[in-house]
Amino acid sequence: MSHTRLEHCHECPLKVSKFCFVPEKLGGMVILLIMFGILVCLVASISLAPHSAFSKPDRWFPLPEHILAVQKNTSVIHSGPTNISHLQFGIAGSANTWHDRSNYTKLWWNPNTTRGFVWLDKKPKILHSDMLVPPYQISRGWTRFKYLHSASAVRIARIVYESFKLGLPNVRWFVMGDDDTLFFTENLVTVLGKYDPNEMYYIGGNSESVEQDVMHAYNMAFGGGGFAISYALATQLAKIMDGCLSRYFFFYGSDQRVWACIHEIGVPLTRENGFHQFDIRGNPYGFLAAHPLVPLVSLHHLDQLSSLFPNQTQINSMKKLISAYHIDPARIVQQIICYDHKRGWSISISWGYTIQIYTALLIAADLQMPLQTFQTWRSSMNGPFIFNTRPMSSDPCQQPTMFFLDQATKVGKSGSITIYKRHEGNESKCLRSGTNNLELQRIRVTALKLDPEYWKNVPRRHCCQLLGGGSIKNGSMDIRIKKCRSHETITI
Ligand SMILES: *[C@@H]1O[C@H](CO)[C@@H](O)[C@H](O)[C@H]1NC(C)=O
Ligand SMILES: *[C@@H]1O[C@H](CO)[C@@H](O)[C@H](O)[C@H]1NC(C)=O
Ligand SMILES: *[C@@H]1O[C@H](CO)[C@@H](O)[C@H](O)[C@H]1NC(C)=O
Ligand SMILES: *[C@@H]1O[C@H](CO)[C@@H](O)[C@H](O)[C@H]1NC(C)=O
Ligand SMILES: *[C@@H]1O[C@H](CO)[C@@H](O)[C@H](O)[C@H]1NC(C)=O
Ligand SMILES: *[C@@H]1O[C@H](CO)[C@@H](O)[C@H](O)[C@H]1NC(C)=O
Ligand SMILES: *[C@@H]1O[C@H](CO)[C@@H](O)[C@H](O)[C@H]1NC(C)=O
Repeated sequence: MSHTRLEHCHECPLKVSKFCFVPEKLGGMVILLIMFGILVCLVASISLAPHSAFSKPDRWFPLPEHILAVQKNTSVIHSGPTNISHLQFGIAGSANTWHDRSNYTKLWWNPNTTRGFVWLDKKPKILHSDMLVPPYQISRGWTRFKYLHSASAVRIARIVYESFKLGLPNVRWFVMGDDDTLFFTENLVTVLGKYDPNEMYYIGGNSESVEQDVMHAYNMAFGGGGFAISYALATQLAKIMDGCLSRYFFFYGSDQRVWACIHEIGVPLTRENGFHQFDIRGNPYGFLAAHPLVPLVSLHHLDQLSSLFPNQTQINSMKKLISAYHIDPARIVQQIICYDHKRGWSISISWGYTIQIYTALLIAADLQMPLQTFQTWRSSMNGPFIFNTRPMSSDPCQQPTMFFLDQATKVGKSGSITIYKRHEGNESKCLRSGTNNLELQRIRVTALKLDPEYWKNVPRRHCCQLLGGGSIKNGSMDIRIKKCRSHETITI
């Protein structure tokens, strides 16, 4: 407060000198007025002095809105299990593109349970009539900040602050994402549920392409993959956000501004490997067929990548994947490996997406390494990535036979059947005798629903069992997924 008063005093001589140029008669009047003003000021400050010692200063001099919000709610303690209602999403959109890009948001947004807004630069020309997209908010107060590359980066960085400022009740996590980020919200809740929102957390993932991490930062949550900020961290971030936006005007992206600001507070990135920025080009197949042993939280850049399923649009591919996700959220794209020792086959399942069959015995360590069906984001090179990859052989006999999800069905309360159909591309086929497995057209996989609690412990890949000794009947093979027995390992 004393700061404000000092500033007022500095202004006084300036004002007086300005008035010196007015005609003399008027000037006299003005000087009288000023003297009166000073007297009022003096009386006011004397009478205020005792008050300010005992009462909240914001009664007299209104604080900036965001500081008020912070002060009011510092006592909020969040306890009990986290569910979807505790998340507030802040989706970065723009008025011109929101209508078209909302297609991806619609796939995961559930107006009955998800909370949050898409933040636009201005009122959109075409308004959504349906309730299947998040309501929009117009970003405010961002145009006054300077920037080197793009004004929208400032606006988008400020979404976390504006989301916080809304002061919605019972928010534990602020989740930021782009309008082409696809969230798997059940798994997002599972992941965030491991952390205490009363502590300061900055949770997300970085880029798959090492060149991107080198250029930006390894310990930065890349915005497209989405990231989460705990309530406690948002409280501190809101206080310094505008200062950060001024200081870091030279950064390229919004996520880097948030990163720089959070590092002023001193909070490191908590990496969760289910957030996927997907800074890759080409086909994400290899990666999703050998997903790390963590719940799938997000996908991004889907418009820039080949369709997940062959001969389908990306939107329809995602609908297919999500149909399986709804049946068993925790299990989606989880990898399971088994061998058909009689035939000498290796079978790798990515639940709800694809099955690969190799007509050779590959070690588990190789099977869990993604086939490189993609290139780096910036330079379209064959690496390096932040994980190991296996080259995709050009010899068709070395390539796996691929099966893609055809249908997913719920069975009873907690079971599922997923059926995968052989992909008959027009690629050249392996004609070497003894390596043909053409009789197999469909694989039926049964599993029990994976309890999200599973992710709270040290995870272990599940096991599988070929039913009927792996017999193929009417072109179809049956596999059951089950928890491994404690002594069970898979060995060639
Ligand atoms: C989420 O948890 C709160 C308690 O924190 C509870 O009141 C609410 O019903 C829960 N919502 C859902 C969707 O489970
Ligand atoms: C989004 O969906 C609408 C209709 O549902 C379609 O007209 C539009 O082309 C789609 N946009 C994109 C970018 O896929
Ligand atoms: C939301 O709730 C309504 C009424 O309960 C239901 O008809 C609708 O299917 C729900 N929507 C979604 C996306 O779950
Ligand atoms: C503070 O929290 C309460 C209860 O959680 C909520 O009703 C209120 O809107 C919040 N106010 C602000 C300014 O955040
Ligand atoms: C691709 O899809 C079209 C229409 O859905 C179908 O007619 C065609 O046979 C499909 N091609 C392949 C190779 O599956
Ligand atoms: C597969 O067929 C499509 C048209 O049906 C063609 O465009 C494509 O080049 C073919 N791919 C290969 C590898 O032959
Ligand atoms: C064999 O499979 C086909 C399609 O996959 C199905 O239509 C047919 O009913 C099956 N026959 C038997 C005897 O199961």
